[in-house]
Amino acid sequence: MGSHSRTQLKGQRRRTPRLAVPRRFLARKVKVRSVGPPRITVLATDVALDIGTANCRLATAQRGILINEPTVVAIDTNSGDVVEVGLGALDSVGRSSRHIVVFRPFAQGTTVDFDVTARLISGLFDRAGISKLSRARVVMSVPSLATAIERRALRQAAIQAGAREVSLVEAPIAAAIGLGLPVQDPVGSAVTILGAGASEAALISLGGIVTGSGRRHGGNDLDSAIASLLRQRHGVVVAPATVEMLKWNLASALGHTHGSSEVVQARMVESGDPVEVEVGADLVNVALTEVLNSTIKMVQDCLSDAPPDLSQDVSAGGLTLVGGHALLNDFAELIATGTGIEVNVAEDAELVIIRGLQLCMTEMSSLHALFRNVDR
Ligand SMILES: Nc1ncnc2c1ncn2[C@@H]1O[C@H](COP(=O)(O)OP(=O)(O)OP(=O)(O)O)[C@@H](O)[C@H]1O
Ligand SMILES: [Mg+2]
Repeated sequence: MGSHSRTQLKGQRRRTPRLAVPRRFLARKVKVRSVGPPRITVLATDVALDIGTANCRLATAQRGILINEPTVVAIDTNSGDVVEVGLGALDSVGRSSRHIVVFRPFAQGTTVDFDVTARLISGLFDRAGISKLSRARVVMSVPSLATAIERRALRQAAIQAGAREVSLVEAPIAAAIGLGLPVQDPVGSAVTILGAGASEAALISLGGIVTGSGRRHGGNDLDSAIASLLRQRHGVVVAPATVEMLKWNLASALGHTHGSSEVVQARMVESGDPVEVEVGADLVNVALTEVLNSTIKMVQDCLSDAPPDLSQDVSAGGLTLVGGHALLNDFAELIATGTGIEVNVAEDAELVIIRGLQLCMTEMSSLHALFRNVDR
């Protein structure tokens, strides 16, 4: 790129984005307010929902982010009633009586159980004190790779839960808005979402996704790969939360081990006997290879399809990672090495999408065009 065009790009980038991001959305420390006893609202309420494979988030225009908890629903199979949603439901795993069954209604980024999803949303509304009478207007994120059927199911689930109107926003657009990028301007902004069940890279300009690439895998697939390698190499089964802890503490996307290891409780597959196993970072890193290679390829595909002008913008402005899985050690460095561009992990990476949706609610009129045609 010649120096002339570089100057122009820098000039464009310094322009005040059309979408001004209020300071409160960029605050360093995020407090998720405790929900406390329901505060029943009968006035019209605008609600933002980011439901993911592992975690769901709810925010209202007036009260900010109220819920950030596991996407789990506990249902009493005798009465059919929802007992708990979120953290409370997760805590009841293995502790409650046999007729309480725990469901995870999302996989690979989208709903796999319409009825339980509707109950989840209804439970989240209850927790946030949003009455059915308020006939909430809901703004929800949807992965770009979701099919038309999955989108319709998500929308209908929210309506069944009591929403009056549902607007779907493609997750990369919500992420870019949450990051304060100038999504509506004629410049290219690159974001990559790394979640528990889905990953997607997108290049955004003039309010739309210009090029995008996605995979139906994410952080959960790393956990499964680590668990199966433990079974294969040590003949043991380890609790899911322990596997996740091994990933957080030992994994490195670049394969660094620093000689570290963790001793964990496990059970022998054959006998069921409890044992202690020392797990090294090298084993964890071997398990990551396949998913991480596929993720690099996904980002490369997205960037290689970009028109030259927008590619130059990305080379100058870099790419931002969002989503909880982006917190994997050395992930940004790995993608930077694989693409040759600067890569950063967003602050509060797992909350960027819900913040973007929150902005969509408050700036509904100016951003309305971004909600169209996402039901394809
Ligand atoms: N420090 C960390 N290191 C590695 N992985 C992490 C870390 N913190 C969270 N994760 C992973 O991030 C994932 C959860 O991210 P997130 O909450 O963004 O997913 P989600 O929105 O539920 O999923 P999706 O959008 O794909 O449906 C989990 O796989 C979790 O293990
Ligand atoms: Mg997500």
